[in-house]
Amino acid sequence: MVGDAVIAPSHVAIIMDGNGRWAKARKRPRVFGHRAGRDAVDRSIEACVEAGVNTLTLFAFSTENWRRPASEVSVLMELMGKALREYVPKLIDHGVALEVLGAREGLSQTLCAQIDAAEEKTAQGQKMRLVLALNYSGHWALHQAAVNLAQARLDDQTLGELDEAAFAAYLPKPHLPPVDLLIRTSGEQRISNFLLWELAYAELYFTDTLWPDFDAQTLHDAFAAYHARERRFGCLPQQEN
Ligand code: IPE
Ligand code: IPE
Ligand code: MG
Repeated sequence: MVGDAVIAPSHVAIIMDGNGRWAKARKRPRVFGHRAGRDAVDRSIEACVEAGVNTLTLFAFSTENWRRPASEVSVLMELMGKALREYVPKLIDHGVALEVLGAREGLSQTLCAQIDAAEEKTAQGQKMRLVLALNYSGHWALHQAAVNLAQARLDDQTLGELDEAAFAAYLPKPHLPPVDLLIRTSGEQRISNFLLWELAYAELYFTDTLWPDFDAQTLHDAFAAYHARERRFGCLPQQEN
């Protein structure tokens, strides 16, 4: 057991950042950091399952990350496919259902097939939902929702009655609950186009820990900080939420 036991937030989202700097500090190429980051992904999944998190959303590759050198992008894509294949037995063991969230455009057919296979094989997982944001951006998701809505050709009355919850059903991942806690590693304090809709009332936690060093202790520190916050959702302090 690492740290004091704390009740886990229901939906934890993580911007896994700092792989490149971790490698640089060791005078190694950036991809060395991405490989090391993979073990941190393992640790974060295990620690979240153990803590009783319901949904863990990990930001693995943003639509903006295509702007990186092609050599780095291709290693990232290779690592992603390899990880998807290798994670499956562990995810099944841990009762984790994997879902990938992001655009398929730009991904290779092989990677798309690996995604489909991993989703299918883990679909029965009951303990935790693991959402891997891959080729994802918040603007992409909101734009998709607008396109989906336009394609639905709702009549004027239905459109007039469309509330925010009904709108959210047009997002690419309609049933993703609101994020309770967003963790970003590596000291950067920005959202970088992550879950813009779902982050609306998330508590934000920034740590200087670089992603490859992330472990259960980092997670528990984040949970402790989360529990020290007062979530008000627009109410006054101490009013019932
Ligand atoms: C996060 O680490 C991994 C991805 C964004 C794919 P970075 O590669 O961004 O590492 P830094 O920020 O350059 O250290
Ligand atoms: C955000 O990290 C994307 C992922 C972690 C996948 P970046 O390293 O790409 O973010 P910026 O460019 O520093 O904002
Ligand atoms: Mg970065």
